[in-house]
Amino acid sequence: EGDEELEARPPVVTVMGHVDHGKTRLLDAIRKSDVMAGEHGGITQHIGAYQVTHNHEGDDRKITFIDTPGHEAFTAMRARGAKVTDIAILVVAADDGVMPQTVEALNHAQAANVPIVVAVNKIDKEGANPEKVRGQLTEYGLVPEEYGGDTMFVEVSARQNLNIDELLEAVLLTADAALDMRANPNKDARGIAIEANLDKGRGAVATVLVQSGTLRVGDTIVAGTAHGRVRAMFDDDGSALTEAGPSRPVQVLGLSNVPRAGDTFFVTADERTARQIAEKREAADRNAALAKRRKRISLEDFD
Ligand code: GTP
Ligand code: MG
Ligand code: NA
Repeated sequence: EGDEELEARPPVVTVMGHVDHGKTRLLDAIRKSDVMAGEHGGITQHIGAYQVTHNHEGDDRKITFIDTPGHEAFTAMRARGAKVTDIAILVVAADDGVMPQTVEALNHAQAANVPIVVAVNKIDKEGANPEKVRGQLTEYGLVPEEYGGDTMFVEVSARQNLNIDELLEAVLLTADAALDMRANPNKDARGIAIEANLDKGRGAVATVLVQSGTLRVGDTIVAGTAHGRVRAMFDDDGSALTEAGPSRPVQVLGLSNVPRAGDTFFVTADERTARQIAEKREAADRNAALAKRRKRISLEDFD
């Protein structure tokens, strides 16, 4: 595809860090900081991802946040070969410092070549020592800009909504400096399932992230071993959408069953093709499971 078809897309961000360092609270604070929030008058719902708009040097820029328990989603999806995240926000509680899961998280991000922005959280707390956090992370290769490195550290308080805009600014600056944030919106959609569940009334409900192209109501898609015609789409405000472009997370109704987090999805020419691909994948999954069982049995035979 020609370069001229590529258009700017929002960065996709995952929040990671040690248990209780404030990932969930920070995601809540970020969501509340959305300058567009409330405009649609919708009730926000949990769909596993959301977009906020941040004003950056006079431009309204969107940022997509993956809102599922960051760490697990990230590792599960990566284990399945899916690259969802452009940037990782590493949350470190300033009173606690670098902990085992902090290191695990930064290792995952570095292995995936995902730039990291550090949110030094809980700076409102007595005993907060952001300087110590900077020193600790320097030893893991995350060298703060003020030490001559290229990692942005932002001191925040998710509880007091302190410096949340500065954190979003750091995300955009990091994206602009380190990444080519472009995709072609003018083709059939491709992307990744982020989360899904079976709803009594609505059937399979899947949140997907469009990575390239544009997804439209009426498109037939395959997502993992699920397939179907997109019956309706909703964003995190609960508003119905007719189309979704690159980096947009949307809740999709109309799939035959529930895809897994990390399953890729794409648009097919028609429903028959979608069903055939899904059935082939299902058969391949069955065979793989069978082969695994046979192997286990034959190994046990030698015990
Ligand atoms: P897990 O999902 O269990 O790993 O935790 P988490 O990282 O999502 O942390 P969570 O957001 O649940 O916050 C853990 C605790 O820290 C909660 O009691 C929060 O209210 C508190 N907390 C989070 N951010 C701040 C902050 O900026 N300042 C203070 N004082 N407390 C905070
Ligand atoms: Mg949490
Ligand atoms: Na929003």
